[in-house]
Amino acid sequence: TSVDNETYGGFEESRPLIHATPPKGWMNDPNGLWYDASEELYHMYYQYSPNETYWSLPIVWGHKTSKNLTVWDDAGIAMAPTDNTTGFYSGSVVVDYNNTSGFFNSTTDPRQRAVAIFTYNTPEAEVQCVAYSLDGGYTFIQYESNPVLSNNSTQFRDPKVIWHEESQKWIMTIAKTQEYKVSIYSSSDLKDWTLESEVEKVGVLGYQYECPGLARISLPNVTLASGSSNMTVPYPSTYSNGTATPTDAWVMFISVNPGAPNGGSFVQYFIGDFNGTTFTPFTEQTQTLDDGEDYYALQTFFNSADNSTLGVAWASNWKYAQSVDTYPWKSSMSLVRKFTLDYFQANPESKILSLKSEPCVDYDVFDLNAGTLYTLNNATDDFMHAKITTNSSQGLLEFNMTWSVNASAYDNSEAADLSLYLRGNQFDDEYLWLGYIANAGAFYLDRGNTGSPFTATCPLFNTRTAVNVQPCEYVSDEITTYKVRGIVDRNIIELYFNDGAQVSTNTFFFMDGDYIETCELKVNKMGVFSIDEFSFRQLAL
Ligand code: FRU
Repeated sequence: TSVDNETYGGFEESRPLIHATPPKGWMNDPNGLWYDASEELYHMYYQYSPNETYWSLPIVWGHKTSKNLTVWDDAGIAMAPTDNTTGFYSGSVVVDYNNTSGFFNSTTDPRQRAVAIFTYNTPEAEVQCVAYSLDGGYTFIQYESNPVLSNNSTQFRDPKVIWHEESQKWIMTIAKTQEYKVSIYSSSDLKDWTLESEVEKVGVLGYQYECPGLARISLPNVTLASGSSNMTVPYPSTYSNGTATPTDAWVMFISVNPGAPNGGSFVQYFIGDFNGTTFTPFTEQTQTLDDGEDYYALQTFFNSADNSTLGVAWASNWKYAQSVDTYPWKSSMSLVRKFTLDYFQANPESKILSLKSEPCVDYDVFDLNAGTLYTLNNATDDFMHAKITTNSSQGLLEFNMTWSVNASAYDNSEAADLSLYLRGNQFDDEYLWLGYIANAGAFYLDRGNTGSPFTATCPLFNTRTAVNVQPCEYVSDEITTYKVRGIVDRNIIELYFNDGAQVSTNTFFFMDGDYIETCELKVNKMGVFSIDEFSFRQLAL
């Protein structure tokens, strides 16, 4: 069967199952991510235009909740401005356990004392406001003396607030977007804010900085000689708090749009130290959180069940987000990811301290018996072609592949590649084509072979993208090993390389109700590649 453009609707059936989407209307940045430890419930708010499928005022805070970070329930609208020419722009939520704000009394469980700090955008200015919730995050009361922070500017937004234990203060990072600054403010009550310092013109500037954030993350448990020459990232012998063997580093996230290396929107980050006043990056190197086309406005959760650092990004790109033809809803979030720090083997000689991303997927919500585990067959020395089909796909799938490359078995004049074709169950000329090319050291994704009018006509939609993937293991001088874990959820694919050392998140648009069901693996040539592990299974909800 081949695709007939007339049947394209882009309606309900293409809605992802484990990526948060708005019930109808437009979604962008995740906001106010927090965990209610009394209800054991995660809260996610988001930039929401309920009445249009493109960004339009008024912008309100939509709301989702989840018990397992996998399936999200809709919780309506948490707060909205009264003036339709304005917007409640991006911001964050903190849990004010000790009632530093004075908004609460003993009737609110300390674990539910949610305070939102966000940007109120009007045609005249962007100012920062606070609002508090007395019902566990479902509705918010605007503080009567708002705004709490203003700067006579229309380009001053996206406050993300954390609690800094050593100084016993709230710390806000906020973007002066067109000045390429992240301003760091402190407060003891979430109302009075004092400017502490500014991080200025770091990394890719692009057109503007948006959605900054600061997170404290444990350092990997390895002993490194201070100043060791094979560390690209210098490792300070002492940190600001005077400890000789620091256990944590601080990561600053900055979203940039437009001006991403792939075009459009992306998230960069810097690893360094924060002493309660200033953030000092260890290096000027710009690090990219996700190499795909659709990962922007990352925000981390204020807290989590096990104190790990969790984050969510908007899974789209401002270049084309509003042109996508899903209806009556537009955009989704990424999966929730757990971030850890580790040393990334950038080449045989050097390691770079960088973030690892692991998807938070609760496998208990799936019927895994519907999955198919694959074992290799019909391989010859030169060529392998194998096809696996899941039974009645819902479009939610996972694959894992570990492969090795024998550099002595090819020279650069030869094509040596392995490819995966992920095909639709209704139209087999709709497919994702992805794979690895040995002499380029690159893993590519081609999302252009689909029937949606958007894919065919939007000139801003890059249909091909690639990640330079480093080996996860140097087995010998000749043999290197690589890993990929892919999660496909109807119209989004997240690729995690080498246990999350690199990630690539990309949306794609098949015809409505055409779900990926078949995986074809083609290897050319088997003398160069060995497939050490391969599985492809359905995650049936
Ligand atoms: C980022 C952004 C933020 C702003 C919000 C408005 O995508 O531009 O800077 O707060 O979207 O919806």
